Amino acid sequence: MGKMPKVLFAAAECSPYIKVGGLGDVAGELPVKLSELGADVRVVIPGNKDIDVPTRYIGDYPVEMGNKNETCIVREIINAPVSTYIIDNYHYFGRQGVYGHRDDPERFAFFCLSVYEMIRRFDFVPDILHLNDWHTAPLAMVVRENEREHPELADISIVYTIHNLEYQGVCDRSIFKLYGVKDVVFMVDKVEYYGCFNPMKAGINYSDIINAVSKTSAHEMLTSRFGFGLEGVLINRKPAIRGIINGINIDNWDPETDKHIYSNYNKENLNLKKKNKKMLQKELGLVEKDVPLFAVISRLVPNKGLDLMEPAFRYILKNDCQLVLLGSGEKYYENIFMDLTRKYPGLVSVNLEFNMEKSRKIYAGSDIFLMPSRYEPCGLSHLIAMRYGTVPLVHKTGGLADTVIDENKKPDAGNGFVFAGYSKESLIRSIKRALNLFEKKEDWVKLVKRAMSGDYSWDRAAEEYLSLYREAKSKNNKRKNKGRKVLT
Ligand code: GLC
Repeated sequence: MGKMPKVLFAAAECSPYIKVGGLGDVAGELPVKLSELGADVRVVIPGNKDIDVPTRYIGDYPVEMGNKNETCIVREIINAPVSTYIIDNYHYFGRQGVYGHRDDPERFAFFCLSVYEMIRRFDFVPDILHLNDWHTAPLAMVVRENEREHPELADISIVYTIHNLEYQGVCDRSIFKLYGVKDVVFMVDKVEYYGCFNPMKAGINYSDIINAVSKTSAHEMLTSRFGFGLEGVLINRKPAIRGIINGINIDNWDPETDKHIYSNYNKENLNLKKKNKKMLQKELGLVEKDVPLFAVISRLVPNKGLDLMEPAFRYILKNDCQLVLLGSGEKYYENIFMDLTRKYPGLVSVNLEFNMEKSRKIYAGSDIFLMPSRYEPCGLSHLIAMRYGTVPLVHKTGGLADTVIDENKKPDAGNGFVFAGYSKESLIRSIKRALNLFEKKEDWVKLVKRAMSGDYSWDRAAEEYLSLYREAKSKNNKRKNKGRKVLT
């Protein structure tokens, strides 16, 4: 593949049209960067009631699902930076909420089968089919299992990115039957998982390359602690596993131009960051003084380290430091955090919502960004925090371990605080270290500047993806020469 590849990027969500989490950001940003580098990239996502942009009708066709036919309507978003197709069907996608419906496995089966049909009908046979997470993974199985009948499919190389291994889409065998592939595929070395169908396992076993969103996550996935039951399957595919850390949109997240923050700044005029802090304190009803201001911006779900946050918050507040939290999720923790506002008035601000404008003000106005995730394949918000000069304090896992360098381990290169060992004791020890360093003003400023100097752009990641695509192509060529369906 000397020339640039034709890529079809399939995902369940894509920002800015529809977004739940980090997958949406990646789907919205990586393809744009790849196309700037010269690749011919198209994106395909399922429809959703919340997608509110002008589209044009491209075509429709029946999709066979087991013994019934469903109609797929393909639309294209008008004026998208890369061609972005929406697979629509009123029954499956005429609803709100990308995930969380009882029939999700069936909805995404429809999506995968529709994309498969699209490839066959619309004369866009990609060089690379780039799949993401469990929702699109079975497409790898469908393509490979049909290539004997349709030899052109064998030329498609498949890259499968795992953003979150915990969610695998495990479902009843009846869903597998909708895919119309041979019954023998429902075996333990392919897609069967304790009597059920495991879509993620299909992605792992049928793709040319499997990649995690950080190098550390690529290793962690192979262990029983982070493998979520698929570590054995992954170990079998170890030679095909890679890791590429995500980027962020550095134009969108830029304290120099951000229109929503109180005062724009860069690393040469950090006194203006202080101004943001004062204004933030004022807006949130916090006491206006220069004590360390900790921030958490996170969905309140268990893997984000909720159990450690509680003791950490108490420690921070008992030491007269301040805390701002933005995000929503588990009611139990929401209540605990709300209670703190009554106990520590003027020191803590709990905002149980997601609010983009507020998040920007918090990134700009805080000192320390707390992210004690139990596991974090890549993580995005700590990269944004660093860009805004808010020093990250993170658990040593996944993408956090790959991007945050502990100031104690490497005093001249450190850009944050890292604690190893997931326990409240080690978290609090690193908070103490942060409080000590905060007092040494000159050292603190140096640390902030180093955090702001990292390269978190998509340029680097997109280049890495292009070479990953080349590798996938050469693996696929080898596979074809050997005439094998499932790789090892
Ligand atoms: C998932 C992961 C997160 C990662 C994101 C994008 O949401 O949990 O760590 O940043 O995917 O890859």
